[in-house]
Amino acid sequence: MQNENWRVAPGGAIRGEARVPGDKSISHRAVMLGALADGTTQVTGLLEGADVLATIEVFRALGVAIDGPEHGAVTVHGVGWEGLRPPASELDVGNSGTSMRLLAGLLAGLPFDTVLTGDASLNRRPMRRVTEPLAEMGARITTSEAGTAPLRIHGGSPLTGIDYTLPVASAQVKSALLLAGMRAAGHTCVTEPAPTRDHTERMLQGFGYPVSRDLATVCLEGGRRLYATRVDVPADISSAAFLLVAASIAPGSDLTLRHVGWNPTRTGVVEILRRMGADIEVLGTDEVGGEPVADLRVRSAGLRGIAIPEELVPLAIDEFPALFIAAACAEGETLLTGAAELRVKESDRIAVMAEGLQALGVTVEPREDGARIVGRPVLDGGQVHSHTDHRIAMAFAIAALRAEAPVAIESCENVRTSFPGFVELLRRLGMGVEVDAGPAHTP
Ligand code: S3P
Repeated sequence: MQNENWRVAPGGAIRGEARVPGDKSISHRAVMLGALADGTTQVTGLLEGADVLATIEVFRALGVAIDGPEHGAVTVHGVGWEGLRPPASELDVGNSGTSMRLLAGLLAGLPFDTVLTGDASLNRRPMRRVTEPLAEMGARITTSEAGTAPLRIHGGSPLTGIDYTLPVASAQVKSALLLAGMRAAGHTCVTEPAPTRDHTERMLQGFGYPVSRDLATVCLEGGRRLYATRVDVPADISSAAFLLVAASIAPGSDLTLRHVGWNPTRTGVVEILRRMGADIEVLGTDEVGGEPVADLRVRSAGLRGIAIPEELVPLAIDEFPALFIAAACAEGETLLTGAAELRVKESDRIAVMAEGLQALGVTVEPREDGARIVGRPVLDGGQVHSHTDHRIAMAFAIAALRAEAPVAIESCENVRTSFPGFVELLRRLGMGVEVDAGPAHTP
């Protein structure tokens, strides 16, 4: 893959209106459930990022006809569980943790063998969190000795439902077990230690599959069918988060974001920013296909450091790279705790954000489960490395709004996994970004 480096001009303001690309989590699930359903599912607003394209390619390899994507529109010709066919080769999901973990659950219930693999970053991430409970259900999956991909999934094992309490708050693990549970005898129940995104549960119901919830426990019974439907994917609040922070920290900003996913299991970033003093107004809300959406207006505001309440961490789990930038530009100290999960994302986001912020002159004390960040009125310019993590690259791009010299960011190519068109959008909203294609590197 071509390596891409950015050089972002310092200062400026964010002004205008935008609809960011579709929600990544919902896009993956729409393709998966559409493929498993009886009939033809029409999806609009789909994220055409590399991660979702990887999920589409997996189902094509399993024999599902999928038209598109074209301008976010996809038609999935569902084949039902019985219609999936053995793939000719390994299933490579690139950088996409969501594809790998959800597919581990889905593929465990099929009658044939499959192998899931990914890029260097994904093949380092922990997979036992899904393979262990799936093994309890009867699945046979082998990992590397370190508990990482490639995952070799031996099909044909009968599955039995389990009652499982998640040791970490993870929507990917919950979803993997629910997907396997559809093929298992009896009930599968998953209890979460803290609320995590509930798109799988919502969408299963949208496809006519009964799911019940009692407080922290979600259950389904195996053996029911999925029926094709329409899915309208909202804009991704995780992508919107970069712009919410950008407009908050850059003086003179005024930005309206349209049709943003407003699911209460995803809005932690807005809650945290508001507690820091951000000026974010909800202009109107609506519901599309079982998912709430909102138009948001954000204007610059003087942010203050806070102690981030731990219960908000799972509700903002992907937004911490952006929130670290907000904290670096806030008055006073921000303390993040209870966020050890950040160490096993696309990169170790605590270490990588601390390293990059320190390069921009910010005092950051990384901790095992979080960080202490001391805000500054102005950041230094400098050179930072994204460690091939899309959200790290985007976070440091918006940091330039408050820097006194350019910010250069290495290895930004993976931004295409979740936010195609990010650089063009920043330019349209008022920022100066130069893109340099560096030498190709091995993933
Ligand atoms: C996701 C769940 C989260 C999140 C990821 C997408 C999902 O991961 O970080 O980007 O779509 O279910 P965890 O389940 O590991 O917290």
